[in-house]
Amino acid sequence: MQIVSALPDLRAARASLSGSLGLVPTMGALHAGHMALVTRARNENDCVGASIFVNPSQFGPNEDLSKYPRPLERDLTLLKEAGVDLVWTPSPAEVYPPGFQTWVEVSDVSRPLEGTHRPGHFRGVATVVAKLFNAFTPDRAYFGQKDAQQVIVLAQMRRDLGFPLQMVVCPTVREADGLALSSRNVYLDPQERAAAPILYRALSAARAAYDAGERCGERLRAIMSEILASEPLARVDYVSAADPETLLDVESRADRFLLSMAVCIGRTRLIDNVMLGESDLFPREEQA
Ligand code: PAJ
Repeated sequence: MQIVSALPDLRAARASLSGSLGLVPTMGALHAGHMALVTRARNENDCVGASIFVNPSQFGPNEDLSKYPRPLERDLTLLKEAGVDLVWTPSPAEVYPPGFQTWVEVSDVSRPLEGTHRPGHFRGVATVVAKLFNAFTPDRAYFGQKDAQQVIVLAQMRRDLGFPLQMVVCPTVREADGLALSSRNVYLDPQERAAAPILYRALSAARAAYDAGERCGERLRAIMSEILASEPLARVDYVSAADPETLLDVESRADRFLLSMAVCIGRTRLIDNVMLGESDLFPREEQA
């Protein structure tokens, strides 16, 4: 496994790989959710590249950039064991050299949900992922359903800017009690950890209502809100039953929904989602 930091070294290492390349962008602190993307990339490509970069531009001023976990040696061991060929671990100055002033902004689908609560977040994500696409020139890029809006924003960017690659979305990997794996779960103390599965319980209750015939967006949101309100440690940022294409809340009836939520458990902000009415988050062209 080649590990490089400088961009010219990445380009040289990339050029030495032959056949198709699958890319897994990450911020490190790897867990089984990340590794599921790596395994899928390994199965579908001749070579696999990964990036580990805690991207400062996608963190807000009061967010956890400085305390975000960075277990680099452990991450590299996991990637090596999973058969990754090339890892890029750039410094912030490598990605954002002095005088940097070009940003990628995906307008409409960046605005609701996470966009409302984390202004500038998706501008940072889209910019760094565009740079990763340019640096690795992958044939396929792998992302998790866990960050559903991120996938939708990046798919829009891929189409609009014409990146010649396929995006592949992988299902959310969960703990046995339903909590979606996240690098931020390490912030939870034991009491908060015990409360955290409330997100998936709320999503599952709304899904059960949908399966029993409920099609009203307002009702689906009420079902989720009621369950979240039963957990004293949970403070809701938003609860949404949205059109999966526009990400805007559906007020009345629909057949497809992206159910999503952001909830603070203590000082840790957790997000989760499920798709209703279709197993794919994506229009067919993006899918493997
Ligand atoms: P990060 O949070 O490290 O996640 C890297 C990838 O792993 C993302 O595509 C994310 O959706 C996926 N992932 C995280 N938890 C998952 C889970 N429980 N199940 C399945 N997939 C999961 O997302 C980012 O980093 C950054 O925004 C990035 C795209 C790297 C740009 O900086």
